[in-house]
Amino acid sequence: MVERLGQQNPGWGAVDAYIADRLLGDDPALAATLAANAAGGLPDIDVSPAQGRMLHLLARMANARRVLEVGTLGGYSTIELARALPADGELVTLEIDLHHADVARANLATAGLSGRVTVITGPALDTLATLKGPFDFVFIDADKQNNPAYVEHAIRLSRPGTTIVVDNVIREGGVLDAGSGDERIRGTRRLFEQVGAEPRLTATAVQTVGVKKWDGFLIAVVD
Ligand code: SAH
Ligand code: DHB
Ligand code: MG
Repeated sequence: MVERLGQQNPGWGAVDAYIADRLLGDDPALAATLAANAAGGLPDIDVSPAQGRMLHLLARMANARRVLEVGTLGGYSTIELARALPADGELVTLEIDLHHADVARANLATAGLSGRVTVITGPALDTLATLKGPFDFVFIDADKQNNPAYVEHAIRLSRPGTTIVVDNVIREGGVLDAGSGDERIRGTRRLFEQVGAEPRLTATAVQTVGVKKWDGFLIAVVD
């Protein structure tokens, strides 16, 4: 059932194009980022343009001055988030893949954001253990099996009011598959149990459709 419901509906991409055309505007740095990612052989798994702008808006709504991102890829979401910062703000983004990090640093330089963004390479769990909070906004978008641990670190590195957003928590309904052997699905299901039982978080999850098919974000605030 989940497989059938997960088929891409052609209307989703058309509506994303409509949203982008009417609301997002031309953005040479973001377009150059996607082109550089493709040229560098990076997978096409960035947030969509509409989702990237949503992250930007959420960070602005949160008045974020310090942002933490787990999972940089080529820096598409990083650019949207870094642009939400005031001039003295900073963003730290964690990436395990040295080539992804190189491409991201070049994209951030093109976007004029190198001064506000630090890309740290290595397994995020190792790097997170070295970071000091508080961060105002955390975006988690790396290896899904580690999402419960990433949220634990995000809480440790938070203050009351910190926003935590986790990408890809629906996976075309895969989250419903209680018997899944896929570590990413199992990690996502543990994430829902953990966040639901976590008295320090007020949370929801929002399903999304569009060019990135049927997926969704978990959104939480630290109480
Ligand atoms: N946030 C990006 C997309 C990130 S894709 C955007 O929307 O533009 C996920 C990234 O997480 C990949 O680049 C992958 O190399 C990285 N990643 C996977 N496992 C990781 C780990 N253990 N530590 C840090 N990064 C990891
Ligand atoms: C994958 C990872 C992502 O962060 C994403 O947005 C889509 C897909 C993946 O690992 O397949
Ligand atoms: Mg993602």
